[in-house]
Amino acid sequence: MLSLEKQLNEKIKNIFQTLSFDGQYAFVKPSDRPDLSDFQCNGALALAKTLKKNPRDIGTQIADCLKNDPDIEAVSVDGPGFINIKLKNSFIASNMDNMASDPRLGCSKTQNPKTIVMDFGGPNVAKALHVGHLRSAVIGESIRRIIDFMGDKVISDVHFGDWGTPMGMILSEIILQDGDLSKIKTYDIEAISSFYKKANIRCKEDEKAAETARLVTAELQNGKKEYVEAWKHLRAVSVEAVKENYDDLQAHFDLWLGESDAHETCGKIVELAKQKGISEIDDGATIIRLPQTNKPMPPVILVKSDGGFGYQLTDIATIKMRVDDLKADEIIYVVDKRQSLHFEQVFQVAQMLQIAPNVVLKHIGFGTVNGADGKPFKTRDGGVMNLCDLIEMSKDKVRSSMPKPNEVEGYGKDEIEKLVEQVAMAAIKFQDLKNTTSSGYVFDLEDFAKFDGKTGPYIQYAIARINSILRKAKEGKLLQGKILISENDERTLALKIAGFENAVWRAVNEKEPSIIADYAYSLAQIFSSFYNTCPIMTGQNDEIKASRLTLAALTRDILTKALYLLGIEAPEKMLKAN
Ligand code: ARG
Repeated sequence: MLSLEKQLNEKIKNIFQTLSFDGQYAFVKPSDRPDLSDFQCNGALALAKTLKKNPRDIGTQIADCLKNDPDIEAVSVDGPGFINIKLKNSFIASNMDNMASDPRLGCSKTQNPKTIVMDFGGPNVAKALHVGHLRSAVIGESIRRIIDFMGDKVISDVHFGDWGTPMGMILSEIILQDGDLSKIKTYDIEAISSFYKKANIRCKEDEKAAETARLVTAELQNGKKEYVEAWKHLRAVSVEAVKENYDDLQAHFDLWLGESDAHETCGKIVELAKQKGISEIDDGATIIRLPQTNKPMPPVILVKSDGGFGYQLTDIATIKMRVDDLKADEIIYVVDKRQSLHFEQVFQVAQMLQIAPNVVLKHIGFGTVNGADGKPFKTRDGGVMNLCDLIEMSKDKVRSSMPKPNEVEGYGKDEIEKLVEQVAMAAIKFQDLKNTTSSGYVFDLEDFAKFDGKTGPYIQYAIARINSILRKAKEGKLLQGKILISENDERTLALKIAGFENAVWRAVNEKEPSIIADYAYSLAQIFSSFYNTCPIMTGQNDEIKASRLTLAALTRDILTKALYLLGIEAPEKMLKAN
């Protein structure tokens, strides 16, 4: 089915064709003046410029044709030549009927599916996930779901940081403390993280220790058996721990590959760069100098002077693997925007090496999660905030506004805890996703879980309220029926519902979940006004009741789908403490 907006565009396109006007301007957009019209077409202004004619005359020509359309209530040419269009209620209503019977809720799918590899997560071995990993997982998962829903093939890869200097730091720290690596198999994630923390301090204070760590890293990368065996354990234990974290966040990864998996290809890249004559040796390191543009572009270090492979090389090699093995048409990185330079360099080298011809490489850089002081979120003692702690804090906050177990029938401890988790995750994720990706935001424990602001729980609440309406209707044996539109608030709600497809397309094209967050919030608000003026159970007659019930159910389904696309669950019921 075609969305309402697309059907209108078709109508306009036909008229442009009849009038022999350039079709590129033949489209509408939701009206800037909803009090005057539903949609507007600004094409006459652009056409007038190229045709050197009066825009109002052109507008009138188009409007005259539109007037004959049975789906159009009124057309006017306003201001310098804006065409304002008001739709017939019957046209809007039949669109609602179509959407209500469509499992995809009126959303089309892409015609030519691409293969898109998504790189998000990027956790490092032996480090607990911290607040910096939150956005990558939350934004990444949402974009993954949106792309998947719109029909491209998406493959997500966690891209574990498992091959850099921290590996050598941990191994050399264990050797220093234990004498050798014989005990490594007995160490769990806490033990390994604590070795890493100690190594970190030691290497900062002691240049010799840092040197040893680099050497061990290089030997590990060169395949020294003892190190590789020990490292396998480090990695396995870390992956286990991190998987639990991502399960809690409901972030899905198809692949659990890491930097280490690119090792062999790294060697090939170094060879290729040499063959193509674009690398050079500088102070013992293999580097590639990049063309200088308006900003300084530091060279890319492929191989460090100690023989170790650099972070950039692993990303370059990984591009080659994703293109060759996964047949990627597009690779998207959802990574902190402080790494933009890294990705610019990596993408440039990929181009110079021609390893990803015609492949779109895109870094979606996000801003930081900040504390009230506007600086990156910290714990009270100034340390980095652990992701698990942040989630626990949020759950505590949400729990305090919920009834106690068994205060509400059917809600024992487990049911309350499940709800606490769903609401807390909604609060955390929505707070993150309602902001445009590239801007940072202040993590606000006071506001984020409120039921009456622009929050995740507000939308969950709106859904639960509709669920309760639908339950009551069922008890009263009221069935859904054909949509009839007469009241203003019915119209406004229906037009908002009709805009769902457009919001999802914009979100997928711009890779911007906040568009869906905005849409869902606004739909929930509009539904609330509708419900105030257009009661369902007490509507004038059965047809009106049945129609409003369908509108309510459709709103619920779209809100639920929107939350799903944001990675958020919609509980059947919501509870509040007395
Ligand atoms: N592990 C890296 C870090 O903690 C992030 C990885 C981001 N992804 C990538 N393909 N470089 O900084």
